[in-house]
Amino acid sequence: SHSIEEAIADLKKGKVIIVCDDENRENEGDFIAVAEYASAETINFMATVGRGLICVPIEQSIAKKLDLHPMVTNNTDSHQTAFTVSIDYKETTTGISAFERFLTVEKMLDEETQAKDFNRPGHIFPLVAKDGGVLERSGHTEAAVDLAKLACASPVGIICEIMKENGEMARVAELEKVAEKYDLKMITIEQLISYKQSQLLTN
Ligand code: 5RP
Ligand code: CA
Ligand code: ZN
Repeated sequence: SHSIEEAIADLKKGKVIIVCDDENRENEGDFIAVAEYASAETINFMATVGRGLICVPIEQSIAKKLDLHPMVTNNTDSHQTAFTVSIDYKETTTGISAFERFLTVEKMLDEETQAKDFNRPGHIFPLVAKDGGVLERSGHTEAAVDLAKLACASPVGIICEIMKENGEMARVAELEKVAEKYDLKMITIEQLISYKQSQLLTN
């Protein structure tokens, strides 16, 4: 595996990385990119190679600004994944192409955009991160927002689970092969937690 510094360096270049959560949690690897440095190509790569659900982790402040309320009032998901109502930017057609999904993400980052500029429901799934990041919740949602901030960008990520060609979820051994094939950095949320804890001690 790679260091957090190596992962951040790739994210700053607009590259995708692989982030694994605990084997006793979901035991999944997600592709994670920083929204501000990503492109439509990032979405296309995630859709074709990852083949999971493409979601957009955001900080609470953005959810508030864009009036992204929870998808359901009673969240019964086993990991309490914080899905909001799904959205499409108003100037999309069907909202699903890599270009239109990326346009929606770009508009979520835009300071000028308001809640009324998005149609609901849509094809982008925002997820709201806990303010304490991975130190508060060890999910991919918080990992993506923490990594965006560490990469000096707006607190918005783009993520997608990695599924094997046979439809099963890729586990660590397969994820390592994906990382090698596409020359991607691969880290764990556990590493990110340690990194943030040591930053707190030194700052
Ligand atoms: C949305 C999910 C994924 O697991 C994603 O990684 C976000 O969830 P979490 O923060 O719980 O890991 O369910 O496709
Ligand atoms: Ca999940
Ligand atoms: Zn996850």
